[in-house]
Amino acid sequence: MNRFPTEFEDLLNNQGKAILKNGYAPEDKNDRKRTPIDVLSHVIDTGKAMDCVNILQKTFYKSMKPISSKIDTRELTGMRKNYSERLSKNLRMKTLEIGSSKSKSYELAKSCGLMDMLNSESLKIFGEKVANTPFGSAENNQIICYQHGDYVSPHNDHHPENPNVRNGYFDIHIMFSNPHVQHQLLVYEKKGFLNGTYNIASPAAIAVYRLPFWHYTTPMLGKKGYEDQARRWLLLRSFEMGPVSKKTK
Ligand SMILES: [Fe+2]
Repeated sequence: MNRFPTEFEDLLNNQGKAILKNGYAPEDKNDRKRTPIDVLSHVIDTGKAMDCVNILQKTFYKSMKPISSKIDTRELTGMRKNYSERLSKNLRMKTLEIGSSKSKSYELAKSCGLMDMLNSESLKIFGEKVANTPFGSAENNQIICYQHGDYVSPHNDHHPENPNVRNGYFDIHIMFSNPHVQHQLLVYEKKGFLNGTYNIASPAAIAVYRLPFWHYTTPMLGKKGYEDQARRWLLLRSFEMGPVSKKTK
């Protein structure tokens, strides 16, 4: 495979295709109420996942923009009261927002088939089956690349100033790690504690988020001796809530 398939369904193995056809049953049904996220690391065809890593590296790596936000030293030196510390969002990664049809990023995403795959009906349906609720319109598309040491500190992705998503929205993350990735965890809010975890360093996985909620990613660690080659890719597509989700919220 040297380009993304037109339909997302064609990346899936038999287990993934079964979810599209029959729906998704989490191992612990109560989990759906307790946790705001599902990460499925057994649904993408492993051979195709390797191809996706190669296509992403070849098409996008040079155009990815590094972003970083360091810890503000005043958050420590400006403290006047014991135990009053507050940490703002800090992070380091590479990113590329896929813009309008006239943008360079869109052109690249179109050239390798990624745009069609993200727009495909089967991707939206897969997310709806996992979240067990209809999605609304697509919000945005973004590519993220984590390298050795890249991470995001705790944040909640709540956008109260945006009327279309201020009552909640969904993210689908299609994730691929190259063979040099050793470790990375997603840590999420569970019953008021930041102690829910998912291993997100598997070769391929799909995450469906019901946002907003608190979460962060630990630093991605590359395998010893291969740190500079380790890359974890994330294709992100956001959706507004559908009519039924709005009603039940
Ligand atoms: Fe986030």
